[in-house]
Amino acid sequence: LVPLVVAIDGPSGSGKSSTSRGVAARLGLRYLDTGAMYRGMTWWMLENGVDVSDPSAVAARAREARIESGTDPLAPTITVDGVDVAEAIRGEAVTGAVSPVSAVPEVRAVLLDLQRSIIAADGGIVVEGRDIGSVVAPDAPVKVYLTADPEARALRRAAEEGGSDVAATQQSLLARDKIDSGRTVSPLTMAEGAVHLDTTPYSLDEVIGLVVDLVEAVE
Ligand code: C5P
Repeated sequence: LVPLVVAIDGPSGSGKSSTSRGVAARLGLRYLDTGAMYRGMTWWMLENGVDVSDPSAVAARAREARIESGTDPLAPTITVDGVDVAEAIRGEAVTGAVSPVSAVPEVRAVLLDLQRSIIAADGGIVVEGRDIGSVVAPDAPVKVYLTADPEARALRRAAEEGGSDVAATQQSLLARDKIDSGRTVSPLTMAEGAVHLDTTPYSLDEVIGLVVDLVEAVE
């Protein structure tokens, strides 16, 4: 019996988190937000005074952070060294530093192991990120690549952040896309076998429905 893995990748603000949680909740699957793990690692680096603009400084300490992710789609949790960082990892400091930290190969190696061990535990799982279908779970039977127009992504993200400036949000999203797509290790890319879904014209419920259909088609 092959456990069900649903890989959902895409750029920032494409609707990955809401879609992934909704699909997992509807199908009774676990849920893993790998972006939150990269954010948790970044929070740890900042908290411990590591110079996040120095890749070798980040690499040297990547194995020290203890990152734990809960997998309930209705109540996702993330702790770092036992501290609940769910809110802190959405702040500006972490958002501004997460892409360069995520480009450090040692960081990716540590989190890749952690992600694979969570995926391998009991029960199907929806996993969202940038490299799930390409690197973390290349054998996933369902792979989705979500995109949306930059304006739509910025509007959604600014609303999520409680009304941040849309133009500034769009700039920040595009800056992260550029680093995430351009890095050497596991760049953001559409995985082989992934279904491309442009969510711009759809409501969240519609996107969840489309992905649920894809999952049910392989079961
Ligand atoms: O998904 P989210 O926007 O929270 O991800 C934050 C950052 O974490 C991304 O911009 C990217 O730099 C990094 N990330 C990654 N690989 C993943 C998930 C996230 O490099 N699988």
